Amino acid sequence: MASIELDGKKYELPVIVGTEGEKAIDITSLRDNSGYITLDDGYSNTGSCISNITFIDGEEGILRYRGIPIEQLADNSTFIETAYLLIWGKLPTKQELADFSALLTKNEMLHEDMKFHYEGFPTHAHPMAILSSMINAAGCFIPEVLEPNELFVIQAARLMSQVRTIAAFSYRKTLGLPIIYPKPSYKYTANFLHMMFSEPYQDYDVIPEVVRALDLIFLLHADHEQNCSTATVRMVASSQANLFASAAAGVCALWGPRHGGANQAVLEMLGQIHKSGDNGSKFLEQTKDKHSGKRLMGFGHRVYKHYDPRATIIKKKCDELLAVLKKKDPLLDIAKRLEEAALSDPFFIERKLYPNVDFYSGIIMRAIGIPLNMFTVMFAIGRMPGWIANFKEIMDNPEGRISRPRQVYNGPTENNYIPLEMRG
Ligand code: CMC
Repeated sequence: MASIELDGKKYELPVIVGTEGEKAIDITSLRDNSGYITLDDGYSNTGSCISNITFIDGEEGILRYRGIPIEQLADNSTFIETAYLLIWGKLPTKQELADFSALLTKNEMLHEDMKFHYEGFPTHAHPMAILSSMINAAGCFIPEVLEPNELFVIQAARLMSQVRTIAAFSYRKTLGLPIIYPKPSYKYTANFLHMMFSEPYQDYDVIPEVVRALDLIFLLHADHEQNCSTATVRMVASSQANLFASAAAGVCALWGPRHGGANQAVLEMLGQIHKSGDNGSKFLEQTKDKHSGKRLMGFGHRVYKHYDPRATIIKKKCDELLAVLKKKDPLLDIAKRLEEAALSDPFFIERKLYPNVDFYSGIIMRAIGIPLNMFTVMFAIGRMPGWIANFKEIMDNPEGRISRPRQVYNGPTENNYIPLEMRG
């Protein structure tokens, strides 16, 4: 029990301890009993739910999906197997994995009429805008999605599979290229690359190392507990909105440069540094000046006060892939120099700012040929299982309530309406 004294009165508040020893004070009854609420701008100290999906220890740089360390999954698993783990809470048997893969294949096609929606977007539309609109639209084409009794596994497979098709179609459309339909014989990530880069007259050359690298990027992004987009998905789901609507909202929340949009922002930053002829040191100085409006993108994290474990894995994969593809990328050299300089700079040390998942992922995507404005879409495809798992957790909780925070009102106190002719 915790106790708090307010206006001379003592209140007892239960303490909740999670399976990893994380402690929380349960304030559910605080307002009813005392009239007080808590205020926590940015929610750094607020637990919005009790969840069984993902564990992060930001001080130690630990990330586990359903208890399994991210390093083990990165070494041994695939995106689809990891998606199953996140959504259903356990690793699948061979049969379960085969069934889930078959469901993904069965649901990979979009309704033909959805192609007309693409015509309505201007060519310069950002693919994240297209993605969120089309996910919501996909929900309209499937009336069963609004029926809560439809088997959740079918809804989940449909969303995961179609988001990949939507993303690839939007890329082709913005370039004025013919749409490439999915190929049922390909696995999830190879199929995505096929839809992105094949031509009607020539199949894309599926290089296993490239498939593995992109699959790893998806896997590493698959969940990350209560970040901005996942919390958004849960918030929307708490109103009992359907899975497609909730995921579309997640895409919008992910888009910003302080969240999923950081992978695009990192590459833009590295590109600008390269173009200006700076070796990174001038730019690094600017990021320390708050008035410059610049941040070292791909650095810092609300939760990690240590190297993001995903960044370690991605950095290694980045070197491996460039070696396999026999590519040299000057932006990788700049990134490494920036990292080294930042990690020994007191400004970054004091604030515990380390590279996060976005710092090196863009270099891999660039090497694969994924255009810059599609980077955050890759994050969204990867994050889909996490959003689905969190949506399921909300729906499976019979005691769940709608998310509805309070506020401290600080506007004008009561005053009177003044008729227009009497206003100066
Ligand atoms: N470059 C320079 N200074 C920074 C940076 C950065 N990347 N990140 C934080 N700071 C400074 C910030 O100015 C502040 O300084 P002070 O204490 O003097 O006021 C201090 O560090 C704390 O920053 P904050 O903004 O209060 O921290 P936050 O927890 O609210 O923000 C963050 C976390 C990720 C939004 C932020 O670190 C950031 O903007 N990083 C760059 C964008 C980025 O890479 N985002 C991707 C995050 S990982 C992928 C994902 O899950 O979305």
